Amino acid sequence: MIRSVLKGCGSALPANCVSNAALAERVDTSDEWIRERTGITQRYLAGEGETTGSLGTAAAQAALDDAGLTIADIDLIVLATATPDNTFPATATRIQHALGGKGFPAFDVAAVCSGFLYALGTADAMLRAGMAKRAIVIGAETFSRILDWEDRTTCVLFGDGAGAFVIEAQDVAEDGPGILATRLHAQGEHGDLLYVDGGPSTTGEVGKLRMKGREVFRHAVVNLAEVLGEVLDEAGFVPADIDWVVPHQANQRILDATAKKLGLSGDKLVVTVDQHANTSAASVPLAFDVAKRDGRIKPGDLVMLEAMGGGFTWGASLLRV
Ligand code: UT7
Repeated sequence: MIRSVLKGCGSALPANCVSNAALAERVDTSDEWIRERTGITQRYLAGEGETTGSLGTAAAQAALDDAGLTIADIDLIVLATATPDNTFPATATRIQHALGGKGFPAFDVAAVCSGFLYALGTADAMLRAGMAKRAIVIGAETFSRILDWEDRTTCVLFGDGAGAFVIEAQDVAEDGPGILATRLHAQGEHGDLLYVDGGPSTTGEVGKLRMKGREVFRHAVVNLAEVLGEVLDEAGFVPADIDWVVPHQANQRILDATAKKLGLSGDKLVVTVDQHANTSAASVPLAFDVAKRDGRIKPGDLVMLEAMGGGFTWGASLLRV
């Protein structure tokens, strides 16, 4: 059977690391509040010259290096982002050019924090349909540029960064590697709980992020536990079969509550929210890359990726590494 197999991964972070204490010097907050409510201790914020495109390019190049491939081997780029360099062209095309690629399709997917799951699901479907052979799938964001730095209920929660996978269509055995199942969902009725209050077709301005955090939290735990169950059922596994869960890194308390609901042991969770804060579409591939590089995620492992974000949108994907 044809499956999309992970060939390599990579990530990139801005140079500037900002601790909670440093943030508390310019925002009415405290290290203690941020740690207790979210688990976050620091975040990386893009500086001059660092953009979604530049971070995405660096992560994509790292993933190509990890795979032992070059851009000449690639025939598709899908970028998940809610903070593109420009309204258009798609930042994926800028990344294609920066990497030295030509001619093959490159486009952006907008599903905010669950964007990487949407991008991976789209690229996987295209690979299995024979529309491409090898894809770079990227999650890259510079949320610091859409934060209201006067709003302490949101600005302390987010960071910037990028992560990328290289996937390849391969004919594999039933118990072989690759993406085994993906489920994606959206529920537009909750759009006003997490959104940006601007855009090209409404205000003509970029706008700022707005969130009703408590309500998002409540929906996140329910939706994530449900979609994980759906993906496990589809692939024929139970929670105990999972080696690692790589969740969207929004809040340590959401990670703990979701794991508890599924009866999953906390030591199977890859957690980077403490180091990176919430990097939206970048968070899942960034966390995956950290755990792969430090040796936790190994070939043959069964890994669940999951995320939930603005829209609402949410999804999960089960991968045999
Ligand atoms: O990635 C997309 C998905 N996004 C999420 O998953 C975010 C989900 N939501 C959350 O993670 C949590 O709801 C938050 C971390 C955003 C907030 O935690 P909470 O425990 O729900 O706190 P809260 O909003 O109920 O606020 C509690 C108190 C309030 O004060 P009062 O009204 O009790 O006096 C806030 O004004 O904490 C206050 N507060 C702060 N204090 C210090 C809010 N933000 C801050 C802050 N520093 N940064």
